[in-house]
Amino acid sequence: MNQLLEAFWYILPAYFANSSPVVLGGGTPIDFGKKWRDGRRILGDGKTWRGFFGGLIVGTIIGIVQYFLLPEYYGSLGIAIELAFLLSLGTLVGDLIGSFIKRRLNMPRGYPAVGLDQWGFLIAALCFAYPVKTIPTGEVLFLLVITPLIHWGANIFAYKMGWKKVPW
Ligand code: CTP
Ligand code: MG
Repeated sequence: MNQLLEAFWYILPAYFANSSPVVLGGGTPIDFGKKWRDGRRILGDGKTWRGFFGGLIVGTIIGIVQYFLLPEYYGSLGIAIELAFLLSLGTLVGDLIGSFIKRRLNMPRGYPAVGLDQWGFLIAALCFAYPVKTIPTGEVLFLLVITPLIHWGANIFAYKMGWKKVPW
């Protein structure tokens, strides 16, 4: 497979896990509305249980679909599911860590944190998936470059669709 295409194919579950909560999220926040010792919310209302598990399920399903489209890339369905699950879990945990940091820096929910918003989830996803399957360093660098562009494009799309209140 073309290297740039491989990088994109590999990370696809992470992109879905990161974007689907915008549509699937809502309801009880993960921090249950609780505050940290600095008096600000632990994570904020932008991180919900529905969004977390919705993203985890959608990302994992993407991996199953990918397996049936290109089984030789994974070797077995088990590996494809494991990889997609870990990429998705890493994405969502990385996103929570990002929100935790943003709240500690006194940034309100939805406030853009350039770098953290675009790379935090990606780096966490790559770390979580590392034990199951890796991509070459060059492809990781490519993902570091294209992910912010895709992230911004997807957010503008979600804003135009009325799913997000702000275009970032
Ligand atoms: N979302 C959710 N649950 C999650 C992640 C996201 O419900 N675990 C939903 C929320 O509606 C959130 C939207 O997806 O507002 C966009 O996600 P994101 O940009 O990550 O959250 P922000 O609202 O920007 O909040 P933060 O400042 O904490 O990143
Ligand atoms: Mg945001």
